[in-house]
Amino acid sequence: MKLSSTIVKRTLSAIAVVAVGVAFATAGTSPSDAQMNELTKQRSGAMKSMGGNMKKLGAAVAGGDNAAAAAAAAAVNEVASKIPSLFPEGSGTGETRAKPEIWQDFADFRSKANALEAASAKVVADASGGSLGSDPKAVVGSIGATCGACHKAYRAPKPE
Ligand code: HEC
Repeated sequence: MKLSSTIVKRTLSAIAVVAVGVAFATAGTSPSDAQMNELTKQRSGAMKSMGGNMKKLGAAVAGGDNAAAAAAAAAVNEVASKIPSLFPEGSGTGETRAKPEIWQDFADFRSKANALEAASAKVVADASGGSLGSDPKAVVGSIGATCGACHKAYRAPKPE
């Protein structure tokens, strides 16, 4: 597969910045099996942590705890900003539910991560400013819709 060196370099520097701990031996090569295992572990951990924080967010809104709601949304926001770096070119092989379409339109994939970043930032701002809604379903859903939009386009169904 021919890789754009710009994308690879950008991906590599993004990975260095967030220190996700995956180092590619040579720019322009796809991740090795070992690197893929590490990447999928990190993706899985990142995604599951967001799932956990979405639950915390719902509980915080239900309890009227703005500080806890802001903290949970901020934790989601932090991970959202790292999503693109967890999906470097060529990392769609092996045991992953990441669809090849991710790398056919990475700009769109990135924009879906940005949408999550924006939605979670809004909840942080609303919670901090005291203007957060009191319906847990609506607040969680305002972020969850952006999770779902990306999954619908770029996550393959669970293997049987
Ligand atoms: C920009 C795209 C994108 C966004 C936004 C996104 N995800 Fe994901 N998510 C994925 C992809 C792709 C996978 C499959 C990754 C793999 O299998 O390597 C995934 C996998 C998951 C998994 C399964 C993890 C596992 O290993 O079992 C969970 C849980 C999850 N996402 C939760 C969330 C939640 C919650 C949000 C929103 C707060 C979210 N995701 C936002 C793309 C996204």
